[in-house]
Amino acid sequence: MYFVANWKMFGNLKSINTLDKVIKFSKSKEIKKGRLIYCPPNTLIGSFYKKFQNCLIDIGAQNCHESDHYGSHTGFVNSKMLKSVGANYVILGHSENRKKGENDKLINLKIKSAINAKLKVIFCIGETLSEKKKSKTKSILSKQINVGLNKIKKKSNIFIAYEPVWSIGTGKIPKNKDLEKIVQFIKSKFKGKSPKILYGGSVNPQNINDLKKINNLDGFLIGGASQNAKKFIDIVKKTYS
Ligand code: 13P
Repeated sequence: MYFVANWKMFGNLKSINTLDKVIKFSKSKEIKKGRLIYCPPNTLIGSFYKKFQNCLIDIGAQNCHESDHYGSHTGFVNSKMLKSVGANYVILGHSENRKKGENDKLINLKIKSAINAKLKVIFCIGETLSEKKKSKTKSILSKQINVGLNKIKKKSNIFIAYEPVWSIGTGKIPKNKDLEKIVQFIKSKFKGKSPKILYGGSVNPQNINDLKKINNLDGFLIGGASQNAKKFIDIVKKTYS
């Protein structure tokens, strides 16, 4: 199982000390088969890389520019630059960025550039509450997948993170039976081997006991709870207990 920590726009140099506990845990037998990936803000990727040198915790970024080349794009970094400072993953299509105007076509270009730079992609999809109420979940997910992954043949480096927008930061999570159907639906969109599927949205040490029962899920994308080392470790421990 993959446990991806999305720190969003949180964290500074001092927060790096909180990682000691997680590093210790990552070297213990308690981690079982859990794989940990931290996605800090870009300002901290280099420091996280140094910190994780002697352990198996991996690093990802939270977004990238769609261009493969250097260029005059004030305020942005591309996937090559992220790879060069130690990132092996990048989160793309997060609803917080879709809300700011990123559309499926732009996300598709970003995914292609990330793959070219040999980054693994955590591709976020999910419906809003009003789309859910109008029973549009499947059509929204289909569109996000079809356009987002258009003309991308090799999908072995792509993870799909199902993050219902209404679940992010709200404490609300889908019912297990609904989540199971959606995981199945996402898998059915792929001929042959489906990408790994993660769930994200209000995952915490309390609800992990329910969420871990979902069939065919390969892990979790965790926001708020991942900024607290104890909660993050608890989520992993409970997944395997
Ligand atoms: P929360 O876990 O804080 O709900 O955030 C989920 C998320 O957006 C992870 O990408």
